[in-house]
Amino acid sequence: MKTRILPVSDAAIREACRILRGGDLVAFPTETVYGLGGHGLHSETVKKIFQAKGRPSTDPLILHLPSSDLESTARAGIVAEPIPASARLLTMKFWPGPLTLILRKGSHVPAEVTAKLDTVAIRFPSHPDAQRLLGEFGHPLAAPSANRFGRISPTEASAVLQELEGKIPLILDGGACSNGIESTVLSLCGPTPEILRPGSIAADQISGILNVSVSQRSSLAKPDRPTESPGMLAHHYAPKTPLYLCALPIRNFESRYQYIVYGPASGSVIANVQILAPDQQPSTAAQNLYKTLRNADRAGSSAILIDPIPDSSWAPALRDRLMRASAGTARWDEGNWSLLPRISG
Ligand code: TXA
Ligand code: MG
Repeated sequence: MKTRILPVSDAAIREACRILRGGDLVAFPTETVYGLGGHGLHSETVKKIFQAKGRPSTDPLILHLPSSDLESTARAGIVAEPIPASARLLTMKFWPGPLTLILRKGSHVPAEVTAKLDTVAIRFPSHPDAQRLLGEFGHPLAAPSANRFGRISPTEASAVLQELEGKIPLILDGGACSNGIESTVLSLCGPTPEILRPGSIAADQISGILNVSVSQRSSLAKPDRPTESPGMLAHHYAPKTPLYLCALPIRNFESRYQYIVYGPASGSVIANVQILAPDQQPSTAAQNLYKTLRNADRAGSSAILIDPIPDSSWAPALRDRLMRASAGTARWDEGNWSLLPRISG
């Protein structure tokens, strides 16, 4: 199959909708990362998403909605009634935007979308091109990140092409994603709200709206039940080149490795150093993270070393992604880098 890239235009959106109505897949930009979308209420289309990504069918998908109205979402059989008051409050504050809510599922959602769980993930993205596509299509789009399973999420159309060339007919090109890391995933199905995946909307912002404490599952903790948070695998978002996390800012560079430093680097900087956030802003670090990892990966060296992420509201999300992407930690020891593999359990 030939994969086309079309810059977003009226004609491109019409073409995307034609493909989606025919039961095929289209990659499209969101404010977080590019999504691989298909008709979210058609089981056969949803199966194609898992195939194209090489994703296990036990890992459920997010439904991207054409509207932020939870009542009409319930009427369409996507979420079950009654809708929790907390969901209303959060959508009023954070939608459109990078917050995914887990609610009880409605009767029209195919089992393939939710990996047979009785809950469903929903999100109303803020990217104007995603909204245009969803508005014109008029149905929910099931859309995981548009990468091969376990690999780095794409934040540009060219990265989607690297991942899925020949596997999907169309990529809508809406430029670089402004946010850069996947949405916060929040479950409203338990006794208290729980963040299953940290993102740019932080726990204290959510608890500030709900007036209750929000728990956050620790980065590499195993869920109690295998299906409880199926996507939270210990190894994910990973470059092919092993990535090592440094405990202290990198000050020494060896030519055999690729380095990713957080802010402007001091000292004798060599060619194989990339800067994550030239302005030191955590939002810039998030925006650049996946592209920077992808570039470092393409250099073909034996390891990538990355600076620690400083504290900020973005830190839990950035550290979570890096932890999952990493092969271990690196330490400057007696004039050399020692690379210590992660003990995976
Ligand atoms: O920002 C994003 O969320 C991007 C863009 C494209 O919208 N999408 C994305 O999708 O990151 P994906 O499939 O890569 O990640 C979805 C996450 C997974 O960790 C999955 O396990 C979790 O959401 N998830 C989906 N449905 C769930 C459910 N019913 N219960 C618990 N976790 C669920
Ligand atoms: Mg993903």
